[in-house]
Amino acid sequence: MMKSVFTGCGAYLPQRKVSNEELAKTVDTSDEWIVARTGICNRHIAADDEMTSDLAYAAAVDALASAGMAASELDLIVLATATPDQTFPATATRVQARLGVAGIPAFDVQAVCSGFIYALAVADNFIKAGQARNVLVIGAETFSRILDWEDRTTCVLFGDGAGAVVLRAEANGDAGDRGIMSTHLHADGRHHDKLYVDGGPSSTGTAGFLRMQGKEVFRHAVANLASVVREALTANNLQADAIDWLVPHQANKRIIDHTAKKLKMPTEKVVLTVAEHGNTSAASVPLALNEAVSDGRIKQGDVILMEAMGGGFTWGAVLARW
Ligand code: UT7
Repeated sequence: MMKSVFTGCGAYLPQRKVSNEELAKTVDTSDEWIVARTGICNRHIAADDEMTSDLAYAAAVDALASAGMAASELDLIVLATATPDQTFPATATRVQARLGVAGIPAFDVQAVCSGFIYALAVADNFIKAGQARNVLVIGAETFSRILDWEDRTTCVLFGDGAGAVVLRAEANGDAGDRGIMSTHLHADGRHHDKLYVDGGPSSTGTAGFLRMQGKEVFRHAVANLASVVREALTANNLQADAIDWLVPHQANKRIIDHTAKKLKMPTEKVVLTVAEHGNTSAASVPLALNEAVSDGRIKQGDVILMEAMGGGFTWGAVLARW
């Protein structure tokens, strides 16, 4: 059986940073409210001519460089996004064309904020099945394009960005005990109306805007994340103190605090980027991962627990040794 080992990661954030104070000039909100309710201070917003594929490509190039791998060595690209450049083709194919690796499979995964966790699970299964050796997994979003900038209950929460990792197949044991230990995915489509976009090619013919019942999403996020984190630990016969780093989806600091508290994890072991990135949906976990790897917090051999919850509802976790 093959194992998926992380060999590199990368990220890209659009240059334009928008603070709470700047938002408060055009929306009926305040820095105090946003910080107290979410922990968000800033978010990055893509330039008018920047698309999700541009962000994804930049993160991919960064990840390949950190892996010391040429794009030509890849044999699969999986890209998680809920904000593709176009309805079709998959944004992954646009990234593939720019990387100059025609021929290998490339496709998108759509699980909104859980997208990167889903994409990692898909990539891991390709590797375990022996169908891929070197896989580029990307989470990339331009949520600024689907926000109703007059709805203060949603527009202050999200940002744009991209993160990526490179996975390499290693025969079990060849990379010590490094690699993905297990993946855990869930969905419950009965909760559609609590978090969705009110448009789409088959309904309105427009891109639509994000709609959310924040309190309801919060309530389910706290419960589902606690449950999937427990599931990941139980599957590996581990206690929470075996985790070196919690790398959570960055939607709201209060949700993250709740998960950390359930795990009895001190805040020093939680990677937090929500203050500077806001919620970047499928990009948030790889962006956080990249930050903690780049600044030397996450080291080879560390046990990391990644988790996310999003529209659908979808939720999941990946336990891995970096
Ligand atoms: O990544 C996908 C998953 N998404 C999430 O995990 C998001 C989950 N939900 C949340 O993070 C929180 O529910 C929010 C941050 C969205 C909202 O926080 P809350 O503590 O649940 O606030 P609320 O929705 O109950 O609103 C409280 C008050 C309301 O006023 P009234 O009705 O009490 O007078 C809102 O109208 O805050 C008001 N409000 C705002 N005030 C200033 C809502 N948005 C804003 C705003 N600025 N931006």
